[in-house]
Parts: sequence; C-alpha cells; structure tokens
Amino acid sequence: LVLILDYGSQYTHLITRRIRQLSVLSLCISGTSPLSAITSLSPKAIILSGGPHSVHLPSSPSFPDGFLRYVQENNVHVLGICYGMQLLVQKLGGEVAEGEKQEYGKMEIEVAKESALYGADDVGGHQTVWMSHGDEAVRLPDGFEVVAKSTQGAFAGIEDRTRRFYGLQYHPEVTHSTKGMETLRRFLFDVCGLSADWKMQDVLEEEIRTINSMVGPNDHVICALSGGVDSTVAATLVHKAIGDRLHCVFVDNGLLRYKERERVMSTFESDLHLPVTCIDASEQFLTNLKGVKDPETKRKIIGREFIAVFDEFAQGLESKLGKRPEYLVQGTLYPDVIESCPPPGSGRSHSHTIKSHHNVGGLPKDMKLKLIEPLKLLFKDEVRKLGSILNVPESFLKRHPFPGPGLAVRVLGDVTEGNALETLRQVDEIFVQGIKDAGLYDKIWQAFAVFLPVQSVGVQGDQRTHSHVVALRAITSEDGMTADWYYFEHKFLVNVVSKICNNVRGVNRVCLDITSKPPATVEWE
Ligand code: XMP
Repeated sequence: LVLILDYGSQYTHLITRRIRQLSVLSLCISGTSPLSAITSLSPKAIILSGGPHSVHLPSSPSFPDGFLRYVQENNVHVLGICYGMQLLVQKLGGEVAEGEKQEYGKMEIEVAKESALYGADDVGGHQTVWMSHGDEAVRLPDGFEVVAKSTQGAFAGIEDRTRRFYGLQYHPEVTHSTKGMETLRRFLFDVCGLSADWKMQDVLEEEIRTINSMVGPNDHVICALSGGVDSTVAATLVHKAIGDRLHCVFVDNGLLRYKERERVMSTFESDLHLPVTCIDASEQFLTNLKGVKDPETKRKIIGREFIAVFDEFAQGLESKLGKRPEYLVQGTLYPDVIESCPPPGSGRSHSHTIKSHHNVGGLPKDMKLKLIEPLKLLFKDEVRKLGSILNVPESFLKRHPFPGPGLAVRVLGDVTEGNALETLRQVDEIFVQGIKDAGLYDKIWQAFAVFLPVQSVGVQGDQRTHSHVVALRAITSEDGMTADWYYFEHKFLVNVVSKICNNVRGVNRVCLDITSKPPATVEWE
C-alpha cells in the first residue's frame, strides 16, 4: 500500500490514480491526519503531496509528531513532491527559501547522476517536467544529495537513500512531466520493492470475501437501483456474493427519460439476472409536485417521496421474509469519501449548498440499516472496469450521468403543467440518439434537453404557432465539478433541430446552451 498525505495540491488525486495505474493500491488521507491514521494502514511507502502553502508560515500543514520516527523505525520510504519535498527538507534540518526565480509550468531539468529516482540512461540528459513553486530548498539536510537540478539551478531531485527519503520539486504525476511515470515506477518497484499486484479481478474477489464475512447466511440486503453505473455495479457485485438474498428496487418516479423504465429493467433482468422489484410511484411523486415551482422545494419533495417508497418496500420485505433486512448497498465512490487537506480560502472544506443533491439511496434515519459500500475505494473509471469483469453491458457502463431528481430539474417550473414531461422526453431522445448516431456519445460527459416554461411565436406549415421553447445542453467534464460546453458541427445541429421541430408537437424553437460551469451549473435547476 502507498499512502498519499494530501497537502492541498490540485494534483493529489492524480498521484493516487497514477499509482493505481501501475497496479499498486494507493489511498489518500489528509496530510494533517493523526499518526494513528497512518500507522493503522501500515504503508510501505508514503508520498507527501504538493500544496499551495509556504513551509515558513506557522499555519502551514505538516505531518504529525512522531511521523519521522515511525517511518525510520518501520523502514517506510517517503517521497515528497513540491511542497511535500520542502516540508521534508525543513523538518529534517535543511533550509527552504523563496526562490530567486519562481518556476511555473513546463521547465527543463538535468539529471546529475544515476540514483534511486533516475536510471543510467537519464544521466546528463534533459527532461521536461511540470513545475509550480515559489519556495525552494536551498540547503539540504545532512545525508541528502542532489540528483537533478532545474536549468535555472533549483534542486529538482534529492535523495537520502540510507534513511529512505526522496524529494522531487516538480510534479511527476502530471503528463507534461514526460518521464514522470518512469520515475514513479522506479520509486515504487526498484526503490520500495512493491509489486504490481493490485488487479480488478483481485479487488472483486476480495470484496466478495468481505461481503460474505459480513453478511450472515440468513441476513437480507436491500439496494435501490437508479439505472446508473455505480448502483448497478455495486448491486451486481453484491448479488454475485450473496445471490437472491439481495433485494433491489427500482422506483419509477414519473420523472424518467423516454422508455427508461423498460430499458433499465430489461438490462437488470435479462443481462444481469438481478432480482429487481419495479415500483411505479409516478402518481405519488407527480401529485406531490403539482404546482411547485421552486427548484429546491422540488428536490426536497422528491427526496422525501423516494424515502417513503423505499421505506414501504423495506417493510413489505420484512412481512414477506419474517425478518428485517439488515443491510443496505450503496454505490459510494472513492472521491466521495476522500478526506482532503484543502488550501485555506479554497472553499473546498466548507462548500456552499448550491443544490441539495441526493442519490436514490437516501436513507431514512430510523431504518438502522448497516451499509455495504463495495466501491468506496474506487474511482469512476475503475468502477467501469469492475463492471466489465462482472459482465455489465458496455452500453450500460458508458451511460451519461443522470440526476437523482430526474427530469424534474430539466422541466423549469411546475413539472405537471400541460404536456411538459412528455414533450421533454421526446426532444431529449431525438437529441441523444442523434449524438449516438454521430458517434459522439463517448466524447461527451452529459447531453440532455431542457423544457422552458415559455412560449414563442413561430410559423409551421404556413400557420402561425405559439409553442414551447426547448434548450439543448451538451458538456465535456472530468468530474461534473467544472464543465465546458461541447462544440457541435453546424450540420449536426441543423439535423437535430429540424427533427425536433418536425416530430415533437408543441415545440417551435430550439436554443443551444453555450455556458460553461461556472458560471452556470450543469443542470438548469
Ligand atoms: P450540477 O447541476 O450541480 O450537476 O452542476 C453536476 C452533476 O451532478 C448531477 N446532478 C445530480 N446527481 N443527484 C444526483 O445523483 C442530484 O440531485 C443531482 N443534481 C445534479 C448532474 O447531472 C451533473 O452530472
């Protein structure tokens, strides 16, 4: 195990992912975690991440007391990256100062000698690396040597092989550092002696063992399926472990996309053989949403209704089985559980509630279910890999994300007014199918239509019309936190708009949303 201590760099998660790409398990915790959090994981190597702080400020984050003694006594290798290297230098008695020339962006380094971090072939050669620092190490602690320097003269690579301390002033995890992966590979395998044995098949087997040791032979487990990748992969995995003692529920809340219920249920049943109860609660949801225009109120109502349906499902199972289900499966992913060390003022620790997001697995407080979260150490792309080993169809694994509150956040205002939901379903289907036909689906993070509660004047078949306006939105994104709008070719848009206006009654105008996030959000409500 490689443990990453996070000091707030925007690249910390990238370090975690790069190491996993080399088939070594890596976990990330806050750089200011107590020593017990570190020792309980028994890492073979620790990486101190970069961060925006200066080691000179008393408030700057650091590893806990006793850390250096622990790593020495337990032969743990420690690599500091950028701020992490400066922290190591300062704590071991060296000196860090504000650099004469600050180094940002692509820079060159020259490798001075063969060492733990660089091979014989690297010596004397130049490497392009990604730097981002104001401070730099100016005097190294006893026992250290410089093995690479930037062309501006800053210490770029340092080592104390006897005490197993290493430092890189640049970011090897960023692709602009052309030989960065090679350096990380040397560090993991040649220096720390780790093996590349973290494979998805092993993750799967390990999770199945864990679930079987946790869930007793007479225990029952429930799971709410949304039709999304995470809950589907989580349920498929748990089903493989405990069979039909898993009870899944799929709720039709009346806010689903075109033919979504039929499509999703057929995948669950015929491809995945999952035992799923489909509950049609559309009337209940839509009755409660009638006349409600405020986006947050709509979200709260949907959350509350979902919990009511779920509760009823659990109670029904209790009377049928003669005992309460004890466990609930949730498709929580690693980014949701990472405890990070955000830079002051970044807002990462106390983010404002912009929208109250909820997944369908919302848990009533008094249900007292124990959680099974088999994906909680995985990133999204790793979940897709796991899903593929579990034979979840590729088409399903690549689906665009869909929000828990469904089309309610895409019909602006009252969702029950007129034919809004049905109109939106048809427009959305034409747009998304057009994207699939053009081979663009996998290039786009999310694409959907929005129904606007306004009417405009048009002319169709020589007749004046007064019909609805819809908007189309397609974005590219890494994680949904920020997004860019997708640039379609003119011909594609002409075709889609003409199909929409010719086939969907009640729509005579189509707009394209060309706003990034920020300032907009992905969904309109
Ligand atoms: P926003 O609109 O917040 O969306 O920029 C970011 C991403 O989150 C999805 N989204 C949700 N997902 N429950 C969910 O499970 C929700 O309540 C919810 N609201 C938005 C949105 O589709 C986008 O991918």
